Amino acid sequence: MCGIVGYLGEKDPKEVIYKGLKTLEYRGYDSAGMAILDGEHFRRVRAQGKLNNLWAKIEKDSFSGSVGIGHTRWATHGIPNEANAHPHAVETVTIVHNGIIENYQELKAELAKTGSKFSSDTDSELVAHLIYNQMQSGQGLLEAVFEVIPRLIGAYSILAVSEDSPDEVVAFKNGPPLLVGMGENEMVVASDIQAIVPYTQTVFYLEDNEVAHIKQDSVKFMDTAGVAVKKVPEEVEWNQEQVEKGGYPYFMLKEIYEQPRAVAQAIEPHIDLKNKSVRLAGVGFGIDKYEDLSKLDRDADWQKTLSAFSQVERIFIVACGTSYYAGMVGEYLIERITGIPVEVDVASEFRYRHPVIPKNSLMIVVSQSGETADTLAALRNVKKSGAMTLSICNVSRSSIDREADGHLYMNAGVEVGVASTKAFVSTLALFNLLALSFGKAKGCLETATEQQWIEDLLGAPAQMEKVLAYDKYFDEAGNDLKEYKGFLYMGRGVNYPIALEGALKLKELAYMHAEGYAAGEMKHGPLALIDNKMAVVMMCPQDELYEKTFSNLEEARARGGMVISIGSGVDEKLKNMSEHYLSLPESRWYVNPLLEVIPLQLLAYHVAHRLGHDVDQPRNLAKSVTVE
Ligand code: AGP
Repeated sequence: MCGIVGYLGEKDPKEVIYKGLKTLEYRGYDSAGMAILDGEHFRRVRAQGKLNNLWAKIEKDSFSGSVGIGHTRWATHGIPNEANAHPHAVETVTIVHNGIIENYQELKAELAKTGSKFSSDTDSELVAHLIYNQMQSGQGLLEAVFEVIPRLIGAYSILAVSEDSPDEVVAFKNGPPLLVGMGENEMVVASDIQAIVPYTQTVFYLEDNEVAHIKQDSVKFMDTAGVAVKKVPEEVEWNQEQVEKGGYPYFMLKEIYEQPRAVAQAIEPHIDLKNKSVRLAGVGFGIDKYEDLSKLDRDADWQKTLSAFSQVERIFIVACGTSYYAGMVGEYLIERITGIPVEVDVASEFRYRHPVIPKNSLMIVVSQSGETADTLAALRNVKKSGAMTLSICNVSRSSIDREADGHLYMNAGVEVGVASTKAFVSTLALFNLLALSFGKAKGCLETATEQQWIEDLLGAPAQMEKVLAYDKYFDEAGNDLKEYKGFLYMGRGVNYPIALEGALKLKELAYMHAEGYAAGEMKHGPLALIDNKMAVVMMCPQDELYEKTFSNLEEARARGGMVISIGSGVDEKLKNMSEHYLSLPESRWYVNPLLEVIPLQLLAYHVAHRLGHDVDQPRNLAKSVTVE
């Protein structure tokens, strides 16, 4: 998704914007640009490709102004070249845009009729034309924006500047995130918190259909009718060192190693250590607006959560990509303990298939970024049906987090690598706690079971640390593994979603064909794929489905497949069946997913690294897909 940074202040806007865009690189992009005030004009510089190309063009330049806007573009309309790069300028008006203007064809036809000339193939450029044309009737930039907003259909976050009022930036959004950081006599407005925290930790989150009128020393918020909106700034905790690589070659490897801590941070707030029991904190059901959850009375909040959960008769888990696979694990966990029927859907399907949402349903939406457009749309659809909603996000105050009724946090820390890792295991840990909580609410969870479960979860980070040792193993094996024509990942039961996640990691990092399958499905087709150039990765821990999974492995082996097996404990039988046998610490079925995903992440990382790919920013992908 596109990255946006704007700056008003005494520092060099060129530097602030460039560094800000660098922190957003992980979002994925194919061109970049900035417009900086220089005298009375906004001087625009753009470049195809990476930010280094842009910097090479302006490094030696100096600008006299104290205002600028910048952008990294992830192409939606128009090929990724310099002409389509943002900012887009029409005479005295310059804008940057993240999102999609869905009615751009009609707008373009209308503008062409009135003589507008276009210099790009983008939908974004039209916004600059509309604002400029509006200002020709004598309106200022802010008034013109109010006139233009009702014309726009789609998802957008936009910054606009004008040479007629060069000391201000107007920001407005409906969909993709936009935040305003207020510093000492300076303002930073950006699509992500990372670009803001080096200058200030006092942040305003723009809501949909709000407009910010930003000057160097002040910011005013209005709704799209121009009515003033009172907003309270947040003091965010993020700081710069969290966003650094910490000596790892890639953020993704750092984040793989952070997983034990991420799981510990995810569960810690919700566990009563003395009684070894679950006690969700800060869920916030029933509070009519988004207050500071940390100020909630913990016992009252927990009782409200239990009461809400006791009414639940059906659960819908909705997410995309890796978050969806985490939801699939959640289904196994919740149904096993509580008997509540659970349905898991990809958000892009769920939002359009007119799902039947019975009364007393709960929707759980999972999203690391909290901004995934399909997941947000699915949440909004279900809220209209009156069902209760609960979000599991890593970015607090993100759109999905703010719009759900109840809230849980992955607490994984900033996840920069496009390929999600620590957010995934944190979500798995939270689904364990949710399953226990539903069990308690329904009165079907034995105390002894709960205590054992909690003990196992508390012990999981130490077991995960041991599994990280496979990093070295795959560093060596990566060279051979990259030669295979394809990979089949398989598992049964709660290990099946892990097979799907492992396949996704290899796809998105190594750009290799990889498929996740339920192991029991092999003889219904995939067996035909097996030969000695097909690697078969089998999740085969010693759980209740071990024998069945093992026989699937024998089927693959008998047909010449190269077997990589992920087992547990001492398992000579499995080892003798495999070219690569990785043994995980013995653990209960509900902890296995936290352990077995790690070798799959490391396999994908090392194969991609051996292939010379940019592991943090895989081609064609974005960290947060804020458009459909
Ligand atoms: C996972 O590695 C991918 N980056 C992608 O599938 C991601 O999980 C998906 O886009 C959902 O993102 P979210 O969790 O931020 O909603």
